[in-house]
Amino acid sequence: MDMGGKSRLLPGGAGGQPARQPHLTDPKPFARDKKSMDEAEVQAFWQAHPCGDEQVGSVARAFRGDYQQFFKRYDTFRYRRERHILSCLDSINFRGVKLLEIGLGQGADSEQLIRRGARWSGLDLTEESVRRMHVRLELHRLPYDELKQGSALAIPYPDNLFDKVFSHGVLHHVPNIRVAQREIARVLKPDGELIMMVYAKWSFNYLVAIGLLRRLGLLALYGLNISPAGVYGDHMANARRMGLRNYLKLSNFIHRNTDGPHNPYSKVYGLREVRQDFSAFQVTRAYKRWMHGPPLPVSWLPFGSFIGWHLWVHLRPIKLAH
Ligand SMILES: C[S@@+](CC[C@H](N)C(=O)[O-])C[C@H]1O[C@@H](n2cnc3c(N)ncnc32)[C@H](O)[C@@H]1O
Repeated sequence: MDMGGKSRLLPGGAGGQPARQPHLTDPKPFARDKKSMDEAEVQAFWQAHPCGDEQVGSVARAFRGDYQQFFKRYDTFRYRRERHILSCLDSINFRGVKLLEIGLGQGADSEQLIRRGARWSGLDLTEESVRRMHVRLELHRLPYDELKQGSALAIPYPDNLFDKVFSHGVLHHVPNIRVAQREIARVLKPDGELIMMVYAKWSFNYLVAIGLLRRLGLLALYGLNISPAGVYGDHMANARRMGLRNYLKLSNFIHRNTDGPHNPYSKVYGLREVRQDFSAFQVTRAYKRWMHGPPLPVSWLPFGSFIGWHLWVHLRPIKLAH
């Protein structure tokens, strides 16, 4: 395993293009049809909003660039709030497994995978996530194979290389998922496995919190013509720009209610949608975890495996024997 020598960083966005700034005032920012969705928009969003950065205070402002403290606080926060992640990982054997992780965020799970013995390689669309991942790998002296910036739409690896691909909270943000899943199947060995977490359609969060309460809340703010500061104000601005009716359509509203009001694309999955979008695979296991439904404090309710927000799915690639 390489301790860093093999890592490759592109200077800007995927394909060497400089990452664009998010265009939050885009006049038609809600054409969310996956064919029209531009990956550069997704990349710009994650580059400007590194996943989870604001949950414990930004590393630049709240931690004054102290990554050691930031990672410590972030990981503690993450696994206290979403403690099911560690038990899900505990139930999978990663020892000696040649693994590609797609979509790294702050690299917390990456560290868990490496500590569980995976021969880890990582891929992320953004320069920022890859940079942070490098810092984590070096600070914590973690052994790894490779770390690359690039897209799930064009995975920079040869066919049949990996035993497992792991992707947590990422593939539901990929508009052109049919291409991505073909790419994942291509780089997996014939007996390999994709393990992913995608947002669950049949969940309390989607059906009640997002589908009902948040929409009603926005309707009330709009009716009263109130523009509060923060997230609610951002939703009001989105609604004004797009037209309230259009914004409240669940097929539009979902994008802006999973990872903040500026997130360009999200999809929710039941097993039907998984089978449709991941046609190069067959599902071998699926389970839901984590009661979640902000602003309601529901995390203590014991219904995560029925109506939880995180849908973990294990899939085998369908590959013809030669
Ligand atoms: C919501 S974060 C999830 C990160 C981490 N897995 C976690 O659970 O916290 C999504 C991450 O996926 C990356 N990403 C989004 N689309 C991608 C793509 N097409 N290829 C590779 N990475 C992608 C983003 O840059 C971001 O770091």
